Amino acid sequence: MSQPCVSSIIGTGSYMPEKVLTNDDLSKIVDTSDEWITTRTGIKERRIAADDQATSDLASEAARRAMANAGVTAEEIDLIVCATVTPDMFFPSTACIVQRKIGAGRAVCFDISAACSGFVYALQVARHFLNAGTRQTALVIGAEKLSSLVNWQDRNTCVLFGDGAGAVVIRATDAADAPGRVLSTVMGSDGNLVDLLKVPGGGSACPVTPQNIDQRLNTVHMEGRETFKHAVTRMSAAAEEALKLAGLTKDDISLVIPHQANARIITAIADRLGLPEEKTFMNLHKYGNTSAATIPVALDEAHHEGRLKPGDVVLLVAFGGGFTWAASVLRW
Ligand code: UT7
Repeated sequence: MSQPCVSSIIGTGSYMPEKVLTNDDLSKIVDTSDEWITTRTGIKERRIAADDQATSDLASEAARRAMANAGVTAEEIDLIVCATVTPDMFFPSTACIVQRKIGAGRAVCFDISAACSGFVYALQVARHFLNAGTRQTALVIGAEKLSSLVNWQDRNTCVLFGDGAGAVVIRATDAADAPGRVLSTVMGSDGNLVDLLKVPGGGSACPVTPQNIDQRLNTVHMEGRETFKHAVTRMSAAAEEALKLAGLTKDDISLVIPHQANARIITAIADRLGLPEEKTFMNLHKYGNTSAATIPVALDEAHHEGRLKPGDVVLLVAFGGGFTWAASVLRW
């Protein structure tokens, strides 16, 4: 191939842990109810990884399924980018651990930290390698074990999150009309708002000490209402910008796959874009918010449910801690 210029998604995969934690289960742990969680978020249940399952285990299974779906072997993978805020450990990267688990010995591996926008960020980073011709076949993964970061005594946050992983295989091609190609991507960040959504403890600013752990500083802290407002504004604007960059309009959209944080956020974005409900993919009732995993898991489900037809325009749009946001337009 002389001049690769397009990155094309050639396979999708996902893995959700078996254990289901329902809203009723949670109401036995904290002062909450199925009624509150359902009406305020749309979430009914979430998956929780087993004690002996790390993020890399979820990621590796999603990666194997994506490779099988794409019909590629681990030896063909020459880049692994893993988006996660729940890495197995500070270092080495979860991507390197996945490399060992799946046997992708030729790959260059690293992680991306962009919270819930991580998968779309990772897709764009991998795409740059492929479009430049320096790598040929990449695994892009979004994987989280958020149950390890949640304060199970805080009803404001513990009802929202879950564990899971999704992955895609992307390949460089010189066929300008290749199916699954990324048409456009926009990304943004606002570090002035870091304090609205964060895990304050456990890093170099606030290392692990018994006192910090007593105060639960090593768990997710979120200003929910503020985060909600920014999520709606930024995701709507990013979606419009990505469409414009692709030379398309909202009328061209076949399916929006938004970050799955709250059904009310997704409905608000669909309203702003003027899109009917059936063009918006939602699976958060089953899984809650799995951060970087929501979009690749949803993409894989949409793919297997036959909701992506050849030629369809698919819009991915994400928002997360940082704040960070990103949107990508795909031609399926
Ligand atoms: O993934 C990254 C992006 N994340 C997001 O985009 C999440 C954005 N935020 C949200 O989705 C929503 O803000 C939440 C679901 C987190 C909260 O919903 P809300 O409608 O904004 O509720 P609130 O935080 O304003 O709380 C309303 C009330 C409070 O009680 P008071 O102060 O009005 O008496 C809370 O204490 O609901 C109470 N509350 C709960 N009650 C029962 C908060 N959590 C719960 C709970 N069960 N789990």
